[in-house]
Amino acid sequence: MAAIFQGFRYRDHVLHADHVSLAKIAEEVGTPCYVYVSDVITQNYSELTKSLGSIPHLICYAVKANSNVSIIKTLAQQGAGADIVSGGELYRALEAEVPPEKIVFSGVGKTREEIDFAIRKKILCFNIESEQELLQIDLVAKSHRKVANVSIRINPDVDPKTHPYIATGLKKSKFGIPYKKALDLIKQSLRLKNVNLMGLGCHIGSQITSVSPFVDATKRMLKLLDQVQKLKPEITHLDLGGGLGIMYSKEHPPSLASWAQSFSKEIEDRKLTLILEPGRSLVGNAGVLLTRVLYGKRGESSNFVVVDSGMNDLIRPALYGAYHTILPVHYRKYKKIKASVVGPCCESGDILTKPRRIQNFQPNDVLAIMSCGAYGASMSSHYNSRAKIAEVLIHDGKHFIIRERETYEDLIQKEKLPPFLRRTQALTA
Ligand code: LLP
Repeated sequence: MAAIFQGFRYRDHVLHADHVSLAKIAEEVGTPCYVYVSDVITQNYSELTKSLGSIPHLICYAVKANSNVSIIKTLAQQGAGADIVSGGELYRALEAEVPPEKIVFSGVGKTREEIDFAIRKKILCFNIESEQELLQIDLVAKSHRKVANVSIRINPDVDPKTHPYIATGLKKSKFGIPYKKALDLIKQSLRLKNVNLMGLGCHIGSQITSVSPFVDATKRMLKLLDQVQKLKPEITHLDLGGGLGIMYSKEHPPSLASWAQSFSKEIEDRKLTLILEPGRSLVGNAGVLLTRVLYGKRGESSNFVVVDSGMNDLIRPALYGAYHTILPVHYRKYKKIKASVVGPCCESGDILTKPRRIQNFQPNDVLAIMSCGAYGASMSSHYNSRAKIAEVLIHDGKHFIIRERETYEDLIQKEKLPPFLRRTQALTA
């Protein structure tokens, strides 16, 4: 059977990731677990950076897509910076040895403590999302007797034609400064003593599968930049965010190279440093979720395949109705049935697939849920007191555990009984 996803192929009817048998990993590590292929990540990064050619650029990996320190470090070693949205992500990026001067801080709700942490660590810049945030950063920087670099995130009002939950560049979205109000805020920032405006930015959404929304957004940003450079010519940093989609089933997203070229064409004649914040397009197709079938169940009107991973491990199908291709780790001829693959959580929404025609998987079969490298583990939770699962990285034909499976003890490690509950005997009336 032909390879379907870069880095994954069947050999002797067993699905392999970069020549390592996923059956062997399921056996050794247990299921469920996430498995990532380091080569796929580094190849994606190098395709992107090479395609930007001579344009001065910095690729700030969006840590939220997959925040495991080993994944961040895999990219940092290639030269990537980081796009972070919390103190926790900053901590992870620093642990992964991302140079602070390659870190940009996005997000609408940065706290005073987080701003303080980022200023102390000397990150490259804050992507400003509101006037109040700008003033807060000016204040915190003043308390350190420092000048903080900032870039204003503009909402360019471009329709990315993606799922409404992940469209972020529309007028109604909470993100960015409205395009029409941007110049006023920019002028205001130029008057502040403890911030240095170095650029403009935008991020229009995620899982975008054509280049046209990116080209539209770039054009709008350049138009604004022309006006801004009249006020301060040294503003030369343009951050066009992330958002490039990947293939989950039948999508045909542009390649990383064509994405890069769509920007290059617009900006090559200008003296600009381009910043990109890709997440999914670097790591999404580099990972799978391995899960084992527990039971088959025939309902009165629907059939179910119950597996050992659920919405707490992978929430995308439950949250967005997202589609993930499912492949059996041992390939064989199955009958097809119409069924949903469901998890063990006590929620009707705990689905990995909506009802669709799938192979009639049998108990003990190991399944690979494809395209889980992004927004899989990073969105997982402990719901139903389910311990977080192991994560594995394949590198050079070997596999390494990059996150241990949690134990029951880990689940309650931070909980504390208040004194009035410390009594061990049951209270009787
Ligand atoms: N920069 C900013 C400011 C962002 O908000 C995001 C993603 C990115 C970069 C990276 O976008 P990417 O290249 O990964 O598309 N949980 C959703 C996706 C949420 C995206 C949030 N922001 C999902 O599972 O589809």
